[in-house]
Amino acid sequence: MIELKTATQIEAMRAAGRVVAAVHAEVRAQAAPGVSLAELDELARKVIDGAGAGSSFLGYHPRFGATPYPGVICTSVNDVMLHGLPTSYRLRDGDLLSVDCGAHVDGWHADGAVSFVVGTASAADAALIETAERTLAAGIAAAQPGGHMGDIGHAMSAVGRGAGYGMQNDFGGHGIGRAMHEEPFVPNEGRAGRGLDLRPGLVIAIEPSLMAGGRDGYHMADDGWSLVTNDGSRSVHVEHTVAITDDGPRILTLP
Ligand code: MF3
Ligand code: CO
Repeated sequence: MIELKTATQIEAMRAAGRVVAAVHAEVRAQAAPGVSLAELDELARKVIDGAGAGSSFLGYHPRFGATPYPGVICTSVNDVMLHGLPTSYRLRDGDLLSVDCGAHVDGWHADGAVSFVVGTASAADAALIETAERTLAAGIAAAQPGGHMGDIGHAMSAVGRGAGYGMQNDFGGHGIGRAMHEEPFVPNEGRAGRGLDLRPGLVIAIEPSLMAGGRDGYHMADDGWSLVTNDGSRSVHVEHTVAITDDGPRILTLP
């Protein structure tokens, strides 16, 4: 069942979205060569605790994960596309890091991801990140009342695949609200004018991931969580929680 949210409920999710954005800012500021992923997770916990919020990820056990999730952020480095565990791995200059975080306030969730390079970025990584951000922006711009779900994926794949990158549609976006993962599924690729009617009050996480190698293949790593590109190419994941309002899309996971 798809539950539309009231304006008051959307404000509650906006509060959770601010916490997510604060985690992104803190992790971005502290991520540097020599810092471990586990240390970044520790920093993220402090931000969430300090805001009086809860983690949407910690202990979460979806069908696609081997264990309850052990951290409050996903830290996906280089060829890890999604769900990288915050291990003792220490970042190196030039690593491409995606940080995904979910938080809840008063029982209302928000979910978002950012990607950036630690230290010096190669031109190829800068282009990959810039294209992923444009892909997400195109998906958000297509999340209009009166539109259709397929408009979102159509807009995103036009940008991402148009630039020659690989995409996947198994792990896309999702409805979000009282739970982090709600109906409906939000495909990363779609057909314009097809699918669910987009209506005011629908709140969704939109989360494209791009693979630099231009191929779609990825696999589960031995840790039972990390999804890694088959060709070893770098991958970027970005995500915002977005409310569809009468005035158009409203991003809830900005500072
Ligand atoms: N943004 C990710 C998603 O919607 C967050 C899930 S990570 C988990 O799939 F660790 F919580 F599972
Ligand atoms: Co999500």
